[in-house]
Amino acid sequence: MAKIAYFNGQYGPHSQAMVHIDDRGYQFADGIYEVCLVIGGRYWDMEGHLARMERSLGALRIGMPMGVASLKVVMNEVLRRNRLSDALVYIQVTRGVAPRNHPFPADEVAPALIMTARRFDLDQSDTQAAKGVGVITAADIRWGRVDIKSISLLPNVLAKQAAVEAGAAETWLVRDGLVTEGSSTNAWIVTDDGVLVTHPKGHEILGGITRETSLACAKDLQIQVEERAFSVSEAQNAAEAFITSATNLVTPVVQIDGVKIGDGAPGRVALRLREAYKERARRVSGA
Ligand code: PDD
Repeated sequence: MAKIAYFNGQYGPHSQAMVHIDDRGYQFADGIYEVCLVIGGRYWDMEGHLARMERSLGALRIGMPMGVASLKVVMNEVLRRNRLSDALVYIQVTRGVAPRNHPFPADEVAPALIMTARRFDLDQSDTQAAKGVGVITAADIRWGRVDIKSISLLPNVLAKQAAVEAGAAETWLVRDGLVTEGSSTNAWIVTDDGVLVTHPKGHEILGGITRETSLACAKDLQIQVEERAFSVSEAQNAAEAFITSATNLVTPVVQIDGVKIGDGAPGRVALRLREAYKERARRVSGA
C-alpha cells in the first residue's frame, strides 16, 4: 500500500509529497517538529506533544497552522489512511513559503504543515531494551535554545552519525564537563542509592515528553529523582544509565565510551520504569 502524507493542505502519496524550494524550512531550517508515538492506534502523550509544539512555535513567533482540534483530526487521519496501528508520526511546521530573505516575510504567509507516518515495531524496541545499548560522548556544540524543538539539527545529525560509526546507539552531549542530553534522547543515570538523575529543564536540553512521563512514573513508583547535571565519569560509575524518547521509550544504556555500566546488563530500575511507562501510556493515551 502506498504511504500517504499530509502536505500542502491535502493527503496524497508520500512519494509525491513535495514542498516549495522557497519554503523557509528548506532555506533556513526556520521551523519546528514533533515525533509522536502511536501504539495500538492511540497516540501516547498527545497532549504533551501538542503543548510543546505550541511552545516551540511561540518561541519562534510562527503561528499555529490550524487549531488543536483540527490538528488532531489530521493526526488521526494520517494514521487511518496509512492503516497503521503502531507508528511514529512526524509533524513539521515551517514559517512558510517566501522569497529568500533573512527577516520574517513582510507579508503574511501561512505556516506550512506536513505530516507523515511510519510503522513502529514495539517488539523490536523491547528486544533492544532487553539487551541494552551503548552510547558514546561528544562535545555539545549546539546553540543556546535547544529547548525549542527546531528542525535545525545539524549538530545532532553529526553526533548521531558519530554514534553509528562507533557501533553505538546514541551520543551523549557534554557541555562544561556535564552531560546535557543525547542527540535525540534525554540522558539519565541511577545512583547506587537508587536515585534517578537527569539534567534539569532549561535552555540547554529539549524537555522530552517521555522524560516528563518517566518522571511521573518514577513518582508513582516512589523512586527518588534529582534533576541535576552529571559528568561522564559519574555516569560511567553509576549503577545504571538509560535514555528516553518517543522513539526509544525507556531504553537501558549498558556502556558509555566503552565502559560497562554496573555489571553490563540492563538495569533493573530502567526496565521497571520502561514497563511503568508503557502501562501509564496505555492508561492515559488519547486520540
Ligand atoms: N527526538 N532530546 C532531543 C535532542 C531530542 O531530539 C528528543 C526527541 C528528545 C526526547 O524527546 P521526546 O521524549 O519528546 O521524544 C530529547 C525525536 C524523537 C527525534 O528527533 O526523532
